[in-house]
Amino acid sequence: MRPIKSVVNSQSETFKSNYAANLAAVEALRAELVRSTSGGGEQYVKRHLARGKLLPRERIEMLLDEGSYFLEIAPLAGIGIENEFVGAGVVGGIGLVSGRECIIIANEATVKGGAVSEIGQLKNRRLSDIGTQNALPSISLVESAGADLPVQAKIFVPGGRGFREITRRSKLRIPSISVVFGNSTAGGAYLPGMSDYVIMVKNQAQVFLGGPPLVKMATGEIVDEESLGGALMHSRKSGLSDYLADDELDGLRIAREIVTHLSVDSDKPGPVPSEEPLYPADELLGIASADIRVPFEVREVIARIVDGSRFEEFKSRYGTTLVTGFAQLYGFPIGILANNGVLMSESAGKGAQFIHLCNQQNIPLVFLQNITGFMVGRAYEEEGIIRHGAKLINAVSNSTVPAITIMIGGSYGAGNYAMCGRAYEPRFLFSWPNHRIAVMGPQQLSGVMDIIKREAASKAGIPVDEEKLTSARKALESQIDQESDVYFATARLWDDGIIDPRETRTVLAISLSAAYNRPAEGTMEWGVFRH
Ligand code: COA
Repeated sequence: MRPIKSVVNSQSETFKSNYAANLAAVEALRAELVRSTSGGGEQYVKRHLARGKLLPRERIEMLLDEGSYFLEIAPLAGIGIENEFVGAGVVGGIGLVSGRECIIIANEATVKGGAVSEIGQLKNRRLSDIGTQNALPSISLVESAGADLPVQAKIFVPGGRGFREITRRSKLRIPSISVVFGNSTAGGAYLPGMSDYVIMVKNQAQVFLGGPPLVKMATGEIVDEESLGGALMHSRKSGLSDYLADDELDGLRIAREIVTHLSVDSDKPGPVPSEEPLYPADELLGIASADIRVPFEVREVIARIVDGSRFEEFKSRYGTTLVTGFAQLYGFPIGILANNGVLMSESAGKGAQFIHLCNQQNIPLVFLQNITGFMVGRAYEEEGIIRHGAKLINAVSNSTVPAITIMIGGSYGAGNYAMCGRAYEPRFLFSWPNHRIAVMGPQQLSGVMDIIKREAASKAGIPVDEEKLTSARKALESQIDQESDVYFATARLWDDGIIDPRETRTVLAISLSAAYNRPAEGTMEWGVFRH
């Protein structure tokens, strides 16, 4: 496999201005990530520490193997959303425990007592899905006041799914471990209740369906918290606790010990010596357009991500707006589909063919998404662009090899679907800070609405109020602009997090490694293709 030959000029004005803008965006991201670690704020953190407890991030650190990575999922979920804390009251991600990749889910007890908010529920659901799709054992570090009561209408009914999923994972032989550190009520009680292994920390864990005030209200019984749901009671009498831990560290030690006896069933390729890319990842900041309306050469990105910058390009002269080809990443075989312009009929058909090839050979897919959509216009409709686009969407929808999507620029229209956007369930989806996402650009969208309104007025024979129309157009443009922002997207779990472009290779490697906990089996079964 030959290396890509880079032609990037790091002295060009375009490179320098992209570099400056992307670096500023990465620094702003870092500041947000630091802020996201402050839990419910100083007052609640102090109180938590004064009770002699570890914070959720400290618990995770103590649980992980020494030197393990922690690929945090959706650290900025909830950002900018009313009634939500950044991180949505949950810290979650993938890391190594006793040498095994696990999904770790820790309640942030300093945020509303660890209660699950609307976005917190979405995040829990995403973490659970990652566990199921990649067959990762889950370790929940529990301290949760159950549902966020004032918003119960938004979470109560869909919230049941979380408990169902724990036992469905169990049926699939994907074990779950709960370590209970504090007060866990109602929904918080069913987390351990549904888990395969439960550890409770002595004199700290208190698990009940309803706390003493509720019991008094419901039945008149007066009972203290320890007798009602303390770790000792659950270990000796109710049987809900399988292991009694002396303290928090002992609880984490027991969890690590449990992982050592879990069996492994995967076809993960053994460690293969891998070459670093020939070109520095730092140059990605100068290559990626900070203004996503400006196209950039995606082979330059591939050259800074894959082993030895080696890329076996498939159909390089056909359907050139989609670059497809084979490579390795930390020794994992991958098939890459990367946008290099608007999607055309040929590029869509080529993408579908390439996905078939990867499925035939059990090769995971990596999508590098930077797409304004499919080409529009009379000539393209006549040649059947919808039909050809549907082939690619069919292939993406039915493909069964692991897929990982990185948003390296814009994501608009059906291009989002055809390039394995969130709804197409890639195993992981991360965004670069320059990413923007919407059905179409703000100017185009407000322009379309303007034309529709003018036509409606003309049909009704009503004169157009230019002033009103202009202000409506501006307001809509500004709304869509805000909603296209990468932080708007990450707040709502449209991605698994915003990453520094320079860390793309590492993030992909961890994601691929996690994905291989389940055999990478391709399919040769597809929906009906329109030819
Ligand atoms: N939903 C929304 N907010 C909640 C909450 C819940 N389930 N549980 C606690 N909070 C809020 C509190 O109102 C408080 O907010 P404030 O500081 O703005 O007043 C904050 O979280 C911290 O709660 P606090 O009671 O001071 O913390 P604590 O650490 O001393 O106690 C609990 C934690 C979990 C023991 C206690 O808050 C509690 O019993 N909560 C209710 C649990 C429950 O019955 N859940 C049933 C859900 S179905």
